[in-house]
Amino acid sequence: MRMKDTVVLVTGSAQGIGRAIAIRLAQEGARIVVEDRQHNAMAGQTLDAVRAAGSDGCVVAGDVGVAADDRAVIAHAVEAMGRLDVLVNNAGVERRASFLDVTEADYDLVMKVNLKGAFFLTQAFVQHLRDTKRGGRIVNVSSVHEELPFPHFTSYCASKGGLKMMMRNLAIELAPLGIAVNNVAPGAVGTAINHELLTNKAERDALIANIPLGRLADPVEVANAVLFLASPDASYVTGTTLFVDGGLLWHYAEQ
Ligand code: BGC
Repeated sequence: MRMKDTVVLVTGSAQGIGRAIAIRLAQEGARIVVEDRQHNAMAGQTLDAVRAAGSDGCVVAGDVGVAADDRAVIAHAVEAMGRLDVLVNNAGVERRASFLDVTEADYDLVMKVNLKGAFFLTQAFVQHLRDTKRGGRIVNVSSVHEELPFPHFTSYCASKGGLKMMMRNLAIELAPLGIAVNNVAPGAVGTAINHELLTNKAERDALIANIPLGRLADPVEVANAVLFLASPDASYVTGTTLFVDGGLLWHYAEQ
């Protein structure tokens, strides 16, 4: 039980990687705040799975991209669970377009959810830790694209690159408060964000050809890395990114 007596808030946990994180941490004893934009059936299913894993939690809804919602999400979570110990900034979106076609609306959405959301939710979380005079841990679910270019996804790369520098900055600034900040950077994972790609065989094969391990990740393989960084096992780890990408980032071959 590596997460016994901890309360963890996971954003975007109604589905995909977020749901896998919620369940994996619950298996290790964490109580989970399932956060998503709406309190819908999918969020409820994640909470059911958390309970089936032997733990408990609640659902809190809010748009992470709105700072007032972020403050309300933290307040509601603390009201329901008594306190928070770990924040997992997982919520993320991507929009494909060649650079010249990117719309302001798509740019704003991607930056709002992926970067502004993590920024202001973290701010509200840190205020809670400071007010209760406790340390804590923050794990951002970034992407291999916090480092690796991804043509036609420039807003997404900008948001994840921003998340990398936010993590590095906060690791330094928040260390005196006993707060560790790290990123997990997944490569290609079989979740809804990749739906288009997964249903197009040519695109899927081209992607897999780039991955040294020769397959997509299962969401639980990402959740295992988040578990490590969220747990006391990572007590001396802050300011770093753990890549979970099957070797994608540094893959180079001449054939
Ligand atoms: C993106 C996916 C992409 C993967 C590997 C992820 O961050 O969300 O769309 O397939 O990186 O390139």
